[in-house]
Amino acid sequence: MTRRIVVLNPKGGSGKTTIATNLAAQYAAAGYRIVLTDYDPQGSSTRWLKTRPAELPPIHGIQAYDKNAGVTRSFLLRLPEGTERVVMDTPAGLRPQEMQELVREADAILVPVMPSDIDIHACSKCIADLLLVAKVRRREQRIGVIANRTRRNTRALETLLRFLATLEIPLVATLRDSQNYVRSAAHGNGIHEMKTYLVREDLEGWRPLLGWLDARFGDIATGDAVKLKSPKGPELEAAG
Ligand SMILES: Nc1ncnc2c1ncn2[C@@H]1O[C@H](COP(=O)(O)OP(=O)(O)OP(=O)(O)O)[C@@H](O)[C@H]1O
Ligand SMILES: [Mg+2]
Repeated sequence: MTRRIVVLNPKGGSGKTTIATNLAAQYAAAGYRIVLTDYDPQGSSTRWLKTRPAELPPIHGIQAYDKNAGVTRSFLLRLPEGTERVVMDTPAGLRPQEMQELVREADAILVPVMPSDIDIHACSKCIADLLLVAKVRRREQRIGVIANRTRRNTRALETLLRFLATLEIPLVATLRDSQNYVRSAAHGNGIHEMKTYLVREDLEGWRPLLGWLDARFGDIATGDAVKLKSPKGPELEAAG
């Protein structure tokens, strides 16, 4: 079954591409047939995919921003047969109406936010637009916030947690501020594809997110699936 995950926050530099590319790489490692759709004309996740070493698990890229592709929109966006996960990377400055279109078919909406007063303010606008303009219903529980580039025990992180509690939107991951993400952007890999001793702490941050998505989609644990599922093998698909 195809599940779509959109990563969005109109605030520039909040971590959309970092999260979209790393999530796609983790699903690829778990043996899923995965598509990374790039809606950003800056093409950052497309660039990441182009630098991805051929020996790593494959990710199919779609350049959804390409208005001059010379093909119809539906042809441009068509998924390879058997696609199981679609991760959508979206641009900064997305307008509420564009948001509405992108979230319409999404099974999960991930909103990365950096814990700073400015970013929390921008995030509250983003979530208000999702609820009021894009008409995402809170009880669908499709929205998950990711605290990105966090440092331990900062006041801003506490403020973010309080803010989310008042909105009743779950915090589904807390990702550290780490140079490993900068390396991953440059090398076309995910942090889990780096040496374990370098990324152990960073990977901890991903566990709740993968668990939240698995629970939403009724999957076996993706972390376990890395070991269980042979690449491209659909045979364990029914296990969840
Ligand atoms: N957790 C992190 N730790 C350290 N650096 C990070 C982290 N997350 C993102 N970055 C870095 O911050 C910068 C912005 O991140 P990214 O490109 O993912 O944001 P974005 O939301 O996609 O930006 P844009 O809105 O421009 O598309 C990048 O250089 C990225 O490597
Ligand atoms: Mg980006």
